[in-house]
Amino acid sequence: MAGVRRMKLGSQGLEVSSQGLGCMGMSCFYGSPKPDSDMIPLIHHAINSGITFFDTSDAYGPLTNEILIAKALKGGLRERVELGTKFGSIFSDGKVHGRGDPAYVRACCEGSLKRLDIDCIDLYYQHRVDTGVPIEVTMGELKKLVEEGKIKYIGLSEASASTIRRAHAVHPITAVQLEWSLWTRDSEEEVIPTCRELGIGIVAYSPLGQGFLSSGPKLVEKLSNDDIRKLLPKFYPENVEHNKNLFERVNAMAARKGCTPSQLALAWVHHQGNDVCPIPGTTKIENLNQNIGALSVKLTKEEMAELEDIASADAVKGDRFGGMSLTWRESNTPPLSSWKGD
Ligand code: ATR
Repeated sequence: MAGVRRMKLGSQGLEVSSQGLGCMGMSCFYGSPKPDSDMIPLIHHAINSGITFFDTSDAYGPLTNEILIAKALKGGLRERVELGTKFGSIFSDGKVHGRGDPAYVRACCEGSLKRLDIDCIDLYYQHRVDTGVPIEVTMGELKKLVEEGKIKYIGLSEASASTIRRAHAVHPITAVQLEWSLWTRDSEEEVIPTCRELGIGIVAYSPLGQGFLSSGPKLVEKLSNDDIRKLLPKFYPENVEHNKNLFERVNAMAARKGCTPSQLALAWVHHQGNDVCPIPGTTKIENLNQNIGALSVKLTKEEMAELEDIASADAVKGDRFGGMSLTWRESNTPPLSSWKGD
């Protein structure tokens, strides 16, 4: 297997593996949690293969995903990895909201440090923006955490261009995490160009379209009742009927190229630029190996154009979250002058 390249993420000095590992599905949302006895060897295999950038959150489990990672890193592995975790994803009234008041940010950071059993988080993201707290206020606390050595770099997830700009003016943002794949391209117009203008790294989550680009309608048929994807509009039966065409075209092109659809979908993200790090999620060693193989898939200009056509605007039906989560579109925050304190 070819070695996994390293890349600079953002402009503040963070270096990560050019593909990360999304750890969410190990603990929640995609059916029941997977046993530690399978996930710990998977994490070790990732590190030994050069995948060292791990993505977690206090919301995954909740809390148990960070504990799993801590268990896997015992015995000297912490120094070999880059850990990205997140705070501020709150589920209430049937929807995921953001939170970012200073006391909460600090308490979350202390909690993650404890669960991960580390002294410093490499990359600490706000998972969802708090629309009731000026982003400058949240950033002020994150900046203090950097100064105190509790976190090294700051990230945002699901943030609008304007929120990114305001945040970056308080303290440099190292990475923005956003959903980017052949079936989710809504950040391309404004959010991604803003990151590039400001020298912010891009972490692409769900690069396999939550698995649809890997397995298509077959995946949807197999989803268990406790799998959150059943609630995502793109996975509604009437939309799968339309969206399967996208999968079939990716699958056919992959067969022509001699790779798997997952590898083609990931290669498309890798080819977006050396400032982009996709973090596919997997719970299986064979899929991890396949995803690493995507780094060796080279796409010509013509092939990129073909994929562009496959992933055109009308190729996909269904909203991303169907109102179940705050997204970058609703992530603007009040002006700093409106803040009356905690
Ligand atoms: P997310 O960021 O939400 O985890 P993703 O990375 O787009 O989403 O896709 C994750 C899904 O793709 C998971 O269901 C994962 O299933 P496994 O845990 O069974 O691997 C699936 N997946 C990841 N890599 C895959 C591969 N190479 N082949 C098939 N399915 C894959």
